[in-house]
Amino acid sequence: MSYNVAIDGPAGAGKSTIAKRIAKEKGFIYVDTGAMYRAMALHMLRENVSPEDTAAVAEECEGVDITIRYEGGEQHVFLNGEDVNGLIRTEEVSQTASKTSVVRRVRERLVSLQQEMARSQDVVMDGRDIGTKVLPDADLKIFLTASVSVRAGRRFDELKAKGMSVSLSEIEDEIRERDERDMTREESPLVQAPDAVLVDTSDLNIDEVVEKILAMIK
Ligand code: DC
Repeated sequence: MSYNVAIDGPAGAGKSTIAKRIAKEKGFIYVDTGAMYRAMALHMLRENVSPEDTAAVAEECEGVDITIRYEGGEQHVFLNGEDVNGLIRTEEVSQTASKTSVVRRVRERLVSLQQEMARSQDVVMDGRDIGTKVLPDADLKIFLTASVSVRAGRRFDELKAKGMSVSLSEIEDEIRERDERDMTREESPLVQAPDAVLVDTSDLNIDEVVEKILAMIK
């Protein structure tokens, strides 16, 4: 039997950083489900499919092939055979992914891929609906969150470190907009599973959060 850890939470709560660290410590595979929704969004942008046109998105997604491979322990997402890891972290893709991921057909296709990966391997999987929908029987469920201002501040520092000039208030607005959409959508909205442990990272550093979660796995 494989051991599955589900980590859900809003944008910027630190899910991927924490999930990666937990996976490394335990020798599990880290599955970043957001990257799959991002790859799908990139496809829609390239094909000029309006993310608001849910019928068109549903139709277009049928022919899209998204696969995951691990190279040097790192997850790579392939869109129709092309490694798109370097292309999916833009603000445009973030906003588009939040819109195209409301489409049921998009979710059905990606969820089954995610479930398949967790069946045979020990995984730490992060996203929005992992504990509620993708892995309802996960061995451990974490709902990771932090205040909007803390999340925006982290994102601001990250972008500044990359030499990008950004405004903190714009980032806050974008995070609020994305949270609102992710939490109020009809299909698999972001909610804390009843059996998930709430971890607020506003006043904790990465090591403290990792320690906390590792203790729960032991
Ligand atoms: O985690 P992320 O920021 O990379 O996710 C990008 C978008 O994809 C996010 O706004 C909502 C969507 N998403 C989702 O609907 N379900 C998931 N399991 C993961 C991401």
